[in-house]
Amino acid sequence: MKILVLHGPNLNLLGSREPEIYGAMTLDDINERLIALGKELGVEVVCRQSNHEGALIDALHDARTWAGGVVFNPGGYTHTSVALRDAISAIGIPVIEAHLSNVYAREEFRHTSLISAVCKGKVTGFGWRSYVLGLRGLADIIKT
Ligand code: DQA
Repeated sequence: MKILVLHGPNLNLLGSREPEIYGAMTLDDINERLIALGKELGVEVVCRQSNHEGALIDALHDARTWAGGVVFNPGGYTHTSVALRDAISAIGIPVIEAHLSNVYAREEFRHTSLISAVCKGKVTGFGWRSYVLGLRGLADIIKT
């Protein structure tokens, strides 16, 4: 079983981007941990990142052909993108929305997510562990 972990815009800068909000771990650090956790859970974790909305849509469409589900942090597109919401609805595999920060403790525009209603579940505010929790939950859902 394979799971896509998909990171959206600006997450390539993790480690140096506002570490007081997003933590000190780089994207590579996080991906390494998720791949290792995947091995423990018996799933192959494939990690991708893009700063471009269309590329994220393409990655979701592609995942439909090989992944059992997706852990997705759409970054700022969470709050704006009807097209990403439509892509999640279209692919018909479970998607978990993940955010490092607690979006509800931040600016009001971050309280709205256009994608939550079409996701299986959502994890927000646990730093890099949001991905860990999302991956564990998704792997369990897919297996059972
Ligand atoms: C984020 C929260 C978003 O509001 C923000 O635009 C991001 C990162 C998070 O992981 O906490 O880029 O998705």
